[in-house]
Amino acid sequence: MPAKITVRKAAPEDLEELLRIQGQSMPQAAEWSAGALLEGLEGCLAAQQNDRLVGFLLYRELGSTEWEILNLAVDQQSRRQGVASSLIEKFLGEAHGDVYLEVRESNLAARALYACWGFSEEGLRRAYYHRPVENAVVMKRANKNIPPANEA
Ligand SMILES: CC(C)(COP(=O)(O)OP(=O)(O)OC[C@H]1O[C@@H](n2cnc3c(N)ncnc32)[C@H](O)[C@@H]1OP(=O)(O)O)[C@@H](O)C(=O)NCCC(=O)NCCS
Repeated sequence: MPAKITVRKAAPEDLEELLRIQGQSMPQAAEWSAGALLEGLEGCLAAQQNDRLVGFLLYRELGSTEWEILNLAVDQQSRRQGVASSLIEKFLGEAHGDVYLEVRESNLAARALYACWGFSEEGLRRAYYHRPVENAVVMKRANKNIPPANEA
């Protein structure tokens, strides 16, 4: 049975592990430099199993009602155990708004994962990615808790 997963805010001491997991997850994960990751830590959730960091989710708030998932990666040995789902669940508990993300068109695993969490495919950004060049699928999860503008 997979070990219990806990999710917490990432801290500067996690940087080495975040880079290790990101490095294993290329090119499906976005490539963030150590400096950019450190600067983005305020929007970074880390998942642990048995005190070991096994995944992370990086996000940012775009205005008060829109959020974006910027990166998501899970340690290769810990995949298909619900780590990404635990990160997404925690993130959705904090993100009160519509959530957007881009994913490589060939990344069927991530597209399936996001579909499980209620994201729908909104369109394509052609040749959005480099190394290798590939289209991005734009996905969105509408937050049904936001009241329509005329009711706000
Ligand atoms: C995509 C990724 C984050 C999934 O992480 P994970 O912890 O294995 O995902 P979960 O265990 O929470 O999976 C939840 C569901 O997503 C879907 N899913 C996840 N991985 C899948 C795969 N390889 N193939 C098909 N469906 C998959 C399944 O429906 C799965 O439920 P199930 O295991 O009960 O069938 C992981 O494979 C990864 O790090 N990939 C490389 C980086 C990446 O693609 N990041 C996304 C950038 S947009």
